[in-house]
Order: sequence, then C-alpha cells, then structure tokens
Amino acid sequence: MLHGKRILLIVAGGIAAYKSLELVRRLRERGASVRAVLTAAGSQFVTPLSLSALTEDKVYSELFSLTDESEMGHIRLSREADLIVIVPATADLLARMAQGRADDLASTVLLAADKPVLAAPAMNHRMWLHPATQANIATLTERGVIFVGPDEGAMACNEHGPGRMAEPQDILAAVLNHFAASAPLAGRRALVTSGPTHEAIDPVRYVANRSSGRQGHAIAAALARGGADTVLVTGPTHEPDPPGVTVRRIESAREMLAACQEALPVDVAVCAAAVSDWRPAAAADQKLKKKGGEAPAIELVENPDILAGLSEPGNRRPSLVIGFAAETENIVEHARAKRARKGCDWILANDVSQGTGTFGGAENTIHLVSAEGEEAWPRMTKTAVAERLAARIAKHLEEPA
Ligand code: C5P
Repeated sequence: MLHGKRILLIVAGGIAAYKSLELVRRLRERGASVRAVLTAAGSQFVTPLSLSALTEDKVYSELFSLTDESEMGHIRLSREADLIVIVPATADLLARMAQGRADDLASTVLLAADKPVLAAPAMNHRMWLHPATQANIATLTERGVIFVGPDEGAMACNEHGPGRMAEPQDILAAVLNHFAASAPLAGRRALVTSGPTHEAIDPVRYVANRSSGRQGHAIAAALARGGADTVLVTGPTHEPDPPGVTVRRIESAREMLAACQEALPVDVAVCAAAVSDWRPAAAADQKLKKKGGEAPAIELVENPDILAGLSEPGNRRPSLVIGFAAETENIVEHARAKRARKGCDWILANDVSQGTGTFGGAENTIHLVSAEGEEAWPRMTKTAVAERLAARIAKHLEEPA
C-alpha cells in the first residue's frame, strides 16, 4: 500500500507518455498522492488537463512561472515528494540528467532533488543501445537512479527491440518494491503520544503547559514513513497532521489514556507527550465567577501516568515502550532512575541545559538510556531525532528476543 506516500511524476516527451495517465490512476488507487511535472515535449503527447484531472492537482511545467516559483518553487516540488518517477524517461532527459543540466523545470527539479528517483526509459532501440545512452544509464545507475525496463518488443516506430517502456503495472510494482525496501517497519503497529494536555478548571479555563508537540509529531511521521501503522494520540497543538498517520485528538490526560488503550495492541509505544501531572479535582460545570476579591482555591489531584501504565507487564504490553525525560543535570543518572520507576524499556533523555528546551525549540540533544547502557546522540533537529529513533526501533524489533 502507498498510503501517505507522495509521488512526483515527471512526464517527458515520448509516445509512451500516454501510459503515465494509467500509472497515475494505479498509484492513486493504492493511496499515493501524485503531483505531475510535464515537460514541453511531454505536453505534445498528453495534455496538462488530463494529468491535472487524474492527479486532482495543478500540473507544473514552467521553470520561470512567477506564481509557481513563489507558491511552489522547484525545490519544494522535490522536498514534498517521497519518490520521483520519470515516465517516460527519454534519451534526451536522461542525457540532461547525466550532465547535470537545469534548462527546464523537470531537469532543474531532478538536479535539486535529494529524493530517490525511479525512471522508466522509453526510446527507439538504436537510441537505447547507443553508447552515449548506455554511458548515461551507467552514470545515473551509479548515482542511485533506479531503472525499470525498458522492455523488448514492437515499438511505435514499427521496429522491434529494447526500448519499449515498461507497462504501468510493472512500474507500479517497482514503486511498491522501492517502498517495501525502504519500509523497515512494515507490518508493525506504533503508538505515539504528543503535545500537552489541557485539564479543565471550568468550561473556559484549563491547566496546561508549553509543549509544542513537534517532537512527538515528527516521531509519528518517521514511524509512518518507515511503514508502521501509526496512531498518534495528541493534545492540542498547532502542528499539522503527519501524512499517513491516524490522528486521535484529545484534551485531558484521562482522554489520552483512554485513546492509548484503544490503540492497543501495538509493537512500540513512544510517549512524547508532556502530560499534565495534575488536574483540578473537579471541573466546575459553570464558569467560575469572581467573588469579592476572594480567589478560588483549586484543588489538584494526580493524573494517571500513561507511560507507566503502558509499561506494566501483561499480554497487551508493547514489546518496546519508550519515554522521554527532560533533564538539566546528571542526565543519564536521572534517566536511569526514571526508566526504573516507569518500567519502560528506553528513556530518551533530553538535555535541556543548553538553552533549547523540549518545548518549542527545533533541536534536541538526546541520550538514549536502555538496559544495555547509554548512547549519546549529537545535537540534531527534532526531525533527525525522529528519523534516528525510527531506525533504532526498526533494528530493535528485528532482533530476536
Ligand atoms: O515523570 P515525567 O513527567 O518526567 O515523565 C516523562 C515521561 O512520562 C514522558 O515520556 C511522558 O510522555 C510520560 N508521562 C506520561 N503520563 C504522565 C506523565 C508523564 O505518559 N502522566
């Protein structure tokens, strides 16, 4: 399945371009979102209107279109894709890629891209067998471009030989294979908590904290990118929903606990939420009124500890439970103690002594504390922390118990 996967399709100019329409349909049926770049030559074979109708998005063609460059620069086109697919990859486009040219939108996107590229070549068999093309293919293969096809067979030019573009179902299979290989968490279920909780005082007031939810949301996104079926239980945040993740929005700690229990069983639970330690003992039904200078006393009671609850032994315990700890000193010692107290497997201790807190900052300095010992990670962005954590989780789950 391709749910949450974003494909940037580059349609170059060849008779096989019509097959790109069929491919869009098949990719979208599998849950992928598809955005298309159409070269000038490509538009001689398929119309922007057909591509636009099938992708349900606008089609990008112009390198120097002012609106496209301000709203959707060529850098963003590849940044917002998980995979670039070239259908058909013509001899000319392959040559321009091999040379690093940037003379139209397609070649510029390809030069600026740091995303995997899958190309389905299509051309006359003599063009395909020409040493120039073969040298270009060798160069591009060396650089990591994945090729599907070409097939051998009858060609539009009434000749026979290698150069026929692979059929849409074979290109789809190559796309699925690519994601399966890059999905070390496929078949796993993951639960992530994120954000603050809001604990009602009365219908309009609450107790909360400054958690942004950035780290938790980034972890949910990374687990989903790794192929895990991911549920994100989140308190109120300004973060957008991560693609491909099932999002459960809650307000209070008790709602978070209920949503987490509902998400079980899972293979891995990551508790990144800043759950409010306490809540008002009873939320007032009506808005509290000022009473002649006397401030109301709010009695607080302790909230359930979700991480500790998930860590309790039992047949629904996830095989890996991970918690966070924000520390300013004796980071590893405190994290070890917290790990023992909560009963979880790993604690990611955030070093918040260097000015960038857990709350709101873009970076984290992590110490991973587990039964095996301690790993100090270099300071990195929260997205990089999420990627590294997802990779560590995948490796851990692969290891026999
Ligand atoms: O005890 P402390 O709040 O420092 O522990 C932090 C870790 O415990 C975090 O992983 C947080 O998500 C989790 N936690 C929880 N439920 C609570 C309090 C903390 O899941 N009520």
